[in-house]
Amino acid sequence: MTSILSQHRRSHMCGDLRAEHVGQTVTLMGWVSRQRDLGGMIFIDLRDRAGLVQLRFDPERDGPLSEEAARLRSEWCVAVRGEVVSRGTNVNDEMPTGAVEVVPTELEVFSEAKTPPFLIREDTDGNEDLRLKYRYLDLRRPPLQRALLMRSKVNALTREYLLSQGFGEFETPVLTRSTPEGARDYLVPARIHPGKFYALPQSPQIFKQLLMISGFDRYFQIVKCFRDEDLRADRQPEFTQIDMEMSFVDADQIMEICEGLVATIFQGALGLDVSPPFERLTYDESMRRFGVDNPDLRFGLEIVDLAEEVADSEFRVFSGTVQNGGAVRAICVPGGAERFSRKDIGELEDFAKVYGAKGLAWVKHTEEGLSGGISKFLSALEQEGIASKMGSTVGSLILFVAADEPVVCASLGNLRKELGKRLELTDPSDFRFCWITDFPMFEYDEDEDRLQAMHHPFTSPTEEDLQNLDGDPLALRTNAYDLVLNGNEIGGGSIRIHRQDVQARIFELLGLSAEEAENKFGFFLEALKYGTPPHGGIAFGMDRLVMLLAKADSIRQVIAFPKTTRAADMMADAPNIVEDDQLRELHLTSTAPTGEETGS
Ligand code: AMO
Ligand code: AMP
Repeated sequence: MTSILSQHRRSHMCGDLRAEHVGQTVTLMGWVSRQRDLGGMIFIDLRDRAGLVQLRFDPERDGPLSEEAARLRSEWCVAVRGEVVSRGTNVNDEMPTGAVEVVPTELEVFSEAKTPPFLIREDTDGNEDLRLKYRYLDLRRPPLQRALLMRSKVNALTREYLLSQGFGEFETPVLTRSTPEGARDYLVPARIHPGKFYALPQSPQIFKQLLMISGFDRYFQIVKCFRDEDLRADRQPEFTQIDMEMSFVDADQIMEICEGLVATIFQGALGLDVSPPFERLTYDESMRRFGVDNPDLRFGLEIVDLAEEVADSEFRVFSGTVQNGGAVRAICVPGGAERFSRKDIGELEDFAKVYGAKGLAWVKHTEEGLSGGISKFLSALEQEGIASKMGSTVGSLILFVAADEPVVCASLGNLRKELGKRLELTDPSDFRFCWITDFPMFEYDEDEDRLQAMHHPFTSPTEEDLQNLDGDPLALRTNAYDLVLNGNEIGGGSIRIHRQDVQARIFELLGLSAEEAENKFGFFLEALKYGTPPHGGIAFGMDRLVMLLAKADSIRQVIAFPKTTRAADMMADAPNIVEDDQLRELHLTSTAPTGEETGS
């Protein structure tokens, strides 16, 4: 049999065929998605990255060809040549190609396939571990094909837009030294420097600032970053940033360029107009109203402060907390009285407790006023005050937390997000952006009893606070901004410190001695002394952005070869042990039990 591939090139993509192609002879190459032998006829759904098209073989007409078609099984890789014909009144509305089918006159099997371990369909039956092990098969499924092609599109749109804005694309090293983004480093032993290690970059932060000092005033890079931290649905140990830095700009200008980038990406990838400028909230306002610094603005359920209303209450949980300087805040859920049973409220309480709340007090607003839960502990006046401040109406459920402010924020903030999900207020096709600004410079790390940079130590305090470097460090506010989309932080950046003395002072406040600062960042402090331009930048989490664009619920779905939440590659079986010789060459010995399966 002559090979189709040796005589013809692929003429069309399976998923692209439409009524307008009827009558044309086409050459298709792809995978058998489904084979149905209906006695008289054999139907094959042939799949490539553009989609599916139906092939029809007729034994009466094409004899031997149909016999060959009868052998085909799922996931065999084949080529066919044949004519596109109309399906007449048998149109399949479920398939974009449903108006047509292809009647082959030639068929070539490139390769047969073992029976796949799970169904290669839009929705599959395989569990995630199995699908990660056979990732190359899972990637054949249409939702993953769409997500990765979307990702490729986002890459292209990003480059096109940033180049049009005068940015240059520059690479920075992967083998480098520790970069301060606050996570644990991945280390690489240096064979020819016994006892020394490279660190993989947590971000290109220092290098992009150095490029500003070098005069490349608009930098970008689509770059892998590495962070050894606890993983979640929106965190991977290696992830991709759209990393940017600019000289001679203020924060507003950077935000404008980012809004242009995001608008270009949404227009190009989804055909959607996201109409910048985006809403802006200060960090303090976001924490007060939403309890978190990455609020989901697709729904209300805002957090309300009730300190005044309950300060003298007989309910000591509330009044005692207020008197001890804590906070009492609540969320009003319209319709929640009916919607949530005692058991549901118990679940919500357990949820709030994960974030440190001691309990979740509640009342329902009925025709008779507030009732149930803790209502019996509240005076008529207090009940009235609460109902009015919360704006509750008959049918509302009010949920309260009394605790230190950070616990109240974290528990109610995350509870609010959970309520949004449970009440189906989080339509993935609704995109609500906001900037969070004026972050604190430092947060207090209880475990280590020292200050930590909230963004990173190169972030500049605001103009006013540059005068207050010797005052209360926890009161310092910065010129930092995060871009939040539907409750996800998709980007974060800041105006940087460009004065060497200010940078040295910030290191000091972080508890780094002059020696330590010199040792870790000496090269950078030195560079700041050579005419540093004012500069700033941002990095977008590309995986998170694509996850939201693709309406996926984990960044694993938009990364070709992701790792599990235990940072393992199930397919390649990484990380793994290495030969003793390799260790010896690296001047290393392992203290871990050898050869033991540590699980993934
Ligand atoms: P930051 O640490 O905020 O800033 O990171 C920028 C963005 O990267 C994404 N991100 C992640 N995505 C997936 N997995 C992770 N483990 C992960 N960690 C972060 C988030 C985040 O908003 N150098 C600074 C940027 C700057 O100041 O210009 C930086 O890295 O979406
Ligand atoms: P108790 O008097 O401890 O049984 O609590 C009565 C109600 O108040 C229960 O619904 C508890 O969940 C709730 N509760 C207790 N402590 C707190 C707190 N710190 N914040 C909010 N609710 C609380």
